[in-house]
Amino acid sequence: MMRNGDHALQPVIKWSGSKRKIAPQIARLFPAARNYFEPFVGGGAMLPFKPCQKAIAGDIIPELIELWKTIQHKPDLTAKAYKSRWLRLQNEGHTAYYDIRSSFNTTRNPHDLLFLSRTCVNGLIRFNQAGNFNNSLHHTRPGIAPTRLRKIIQQWSLAIQNIEFVTADYRDTLQLVTGGDLVFLDPPYQGTKGRYLPLNFSIEEFYSELERLNSIGAKWILTFDGQAGKRAYVKDVPPDIYREHFALFTGNSPFTKLMGLSVDAVVESVYLNFEIPSKLPTQLLYMGKQASRNTTSANMQQGRLFNQVEF
Ligand SMILES: C[S@@+](CC[C@H](N)C(=O)[O-])C[C@H]1O[C@@H](n2cnc3c(N)ncnc32)[C@H](O)[C@@H]1O
Repeated sequence: MMRNGDHALQPVIKWSGSKRKIAPQIARLFPAARNYFEPFVGGGAMLPFKPCQKAIAGDIIPELIELWKTIQHKPDLTAKAYKSRWLRLQNEGHTAYYDIRSSFNTTRNPHDLLFLSRTCVNGLIRFNQAGNFNNSLHHTRPGIAPTRLRKIIQQWSLAIQNIEFVTADYRDTLQLVTGGDLVFLDPPYQGTKGRYLPLNFSIEEFYSELERLNSIGAKWILTFDGQAGKRAYVKDVPPDIYREHFALFTGNSPFTKLMGLSVDAVVESVYLNFEIPSKLPTQLLYMGKQASRNTTSANMQQGRLFNQVEF
């Protein structure tokens, strides 16, 4: 397990909505826990930072979970599978990509999915209404070289050894959570470029699940896309459900960006149902709290700055 503040591993599966760039900052908020849960695992950027040995990671996409299990138990097989497809692409050109894409849409081979995630336009995982992968080849990029990806696959295989991967709706994964556990929630967004499946994701049901976790004494951290939040969900997160609210910024000088009120600088909105550590890495995180909560004056000031960004 990586220590908080360590750098994230290079991605093994490229995934829309990946938290890779902000994973170390989010990991600073991880408290000690008995078990760690990720019910929306996707590309698994937070997995190397899990705060305890026992962890369960779920996703609704079966071939993604199969891929994780193969990386975990048969990394060599995954490395070889990528290499053979990558060589086809170099030798045959774009027809190889579209052959593999159509093969994936018929057989749902997890290694086809890995190859597609590595060679499609901007690494954007996109399915159509019928559930078929429909992104095109990224013509100007050859895809990561197999020797490089092999090393990354081996690193990940070691990092995820103790994790149980499950194909499951998040509500089923959350049934396994008990008091003292930590849940990291990174749900899918609608209305943004990060679309995964044509799902009807009920935000109300999702909030009910958060309330249930509160009632059993589990801790959770929720991330919402800042941009999506501006348009959709974030204003609606019911204030009674969470304790803390952060905005995460990218770039070398997030403070300058904040003062310039550049909403584009906002990467993610983060909610927690527990008290944060008193010493925050303020260069990396700016915080907002519910006005009704007890806050220190420093926190209140940060909260005002945060509010100016207007999610
Ligand atoms: C924002 S992505 C997670 C990204 C991940 N944190 C990362 O760093 O790569 C959301 C994930 O939720 C999954 N998902 C969507 N609906 C789901 C559901 N009802 N239950 C479980 N997983 C779901 C999607 O397949 C997608 O992989």
